Amino acid sequence: MRPRLLASSLFPHISSLTMKIIFIGDIVGKPGRDAALAMVPILRAEYAPDLVIANAENAAGGLGITPEIGRALLKGGMDVLTLGNHTWSKRDVQEFLNQEARVLRPANYPPGSPGRGFGLFKTAGGTLVGVANLIGRTFMEPLDDPFRAADEIVGALRPMTPVLFLDFHAETTSEKGAMGWHCDGRISAVVGTHTHVQTADERVLPGGTAFITDAGMCGPEDSVIGMDPQIVLQRFRTQMPHKFEVADGPTRLCGVVVEIEDATGRACRIERISRLA
Ligand code: FE2
Repeated sequence: MRPRLLASSLFPHISSLTMKIIFIGDIVGKPGRDAALAMVPILRAEYAPDLVIANAENAAGGLGITPEIGRALLKGGMDVLTLGNHTWSKRDVQEFLNQEARVLRPANYPPGSPGRGFGLFKTAGGTLVGVANLIGRTFMEPLDDPFRAADEIVGALRPMTPVLFLDFHAETTSEKGAMGWHCDGRISAVVGTHTHVQTADERVLPGGTAFITDAGMCGPEDSVIGMDPQIVLQRFRTQMPHKFEVADGPTRLCGVVVEIEDATGRACRIERISRLA
């Protein structure tokens, strides 16, 4: 039986039971995978989350995911994985996404794309949680409108549960912020990913949506967004093609924990996680 906080006894303004979701930002390469696998049991013991979600779109060498890596992360304590612009980088992923409902790709890919963009997951305590993945369009590929896609996801999932979580994988702070406000009061948490640097703007919006512009990454600290800084510098300074490599050294896990009222789907708290693994 999962531990449950009887919120009303501690906070009179909160009238129902609450649940917790931990979200781990973009897992980068083997250092990120090792850190996530090592830290998830520690985070589970510390926070007693009902669901652990991680963005794994950089998990395979910094680009994409493989079926083996996806299975290892799911087996190692992550309940749901989300993806992003590198979804199709590795071979065999299309079939894997068709088979594995716990790995989500952006929902605003064209109709008929392999896999699923959102799903409904039951926690050990029996609460249904809707999880969705969307991708932004500003300075990114010209995919379908993520705002309209969010409306469709809310329409599909809210009749089943008020507890909804969205990983919005986007480049600009403004598009991510706009998505937070677009979903305020309709999605319990809107968490940005893709830029790999954790922002300090976490808050609960007036309608009850927990929001952060970017959750940060789970990857090498001495890096440029996870990659070897010397190679990145070479590319910036010479404008010549250089193959990026995942950096090594100490690894930091970044993410958030969100506390949500089961009955209403309102978030009551969002807290950043950032620690050396
Ligand atoms: Fe990305």
